[in-house]
Amino acid sequence: MKKAFIVANWKMNPVTFKEAENLFVSVNKGIKKDKGIEVIICPPFVYLNFLKKNQKGEKGKIRLGAQNCSSQEKGALTGEISPVMLKKIGCEYVILGHFERRKYFSETDEGINKKIKLVLKNGLKPILCINEILQIKKDLKGISKKEIGKILVAYEPAWAIGTGKACDYTQAKKFNLLIKKVLGKKHPTLYGGSINAQNALGYIQKSEFSGLLIGGISLKPKEFIKTVELFYNK
Ligand code: PGA
Repeated sequence: MKKAFIVANWKMNPVTFKEAENLFVSVNKGIKKDKGIEVIICPPFVYLNFLKKNQKGEKGKIRLGAQNCSSQEKGALTGEISPVMLKKIGCEYVILGHFERRKYFSETDEGINKKIKLVLKNGLKPILCINEILQIKKDLKGISKKEIGKILVAYEPAWAIGTGKACDYTQAKKFNLLIKKVLGKKHPTLYGGSINAQNALGYIQKSEFSGLLIGGISLKPKEFIKTVELFYNK
């Protein structure tokens, strides 16, 4: 099997520094380096710098990503986080366009497109989440083929996020093929939505995705590690 990407989206969890540290340390200890997988943890902003430093001798085992960023590099934008800041602290990825951002924070395709461009300009890799195929063209408007090649595109059906009702493999595969029709057969794609250790492997083997975007179980170290282990040099 080719390299698999496993992205952990912690969302707004855990609520204390100590819990975040414990979760990170457990996962870092529990997984093996490389083994044909790239594990990317996306914690809340406030933990990023600390977790980066916490990697110590284990550099490169876990990569860090943010869950969002500003569409501007700097300025009078209260409450925003610049991709320049993220790059400086050693963050490598940024999740953009997650369904929860589109729904609860009214993010538009136009705004997401701006963020993707800025993230790429700053040498970070976007993890673009979509739940409808028409979003791809709008979100990637004006971005060169070469730059698009650096983006991980995640299909997350809105109804499957956090509901325990994962998409069936055939339907997920259909959507995956639609993405590949637009971006090319080799483009890395991820599936996300109610993944657990039991259903995870099928999205790679049956639905032909290159990786997973995991919410709920990324907060449970045992189950998360078990899921990652499924992908060791498959
Ligand atoms: P879930 O979340 O695994 O809890 O369904 C996935 C996501 O929102 O990225």
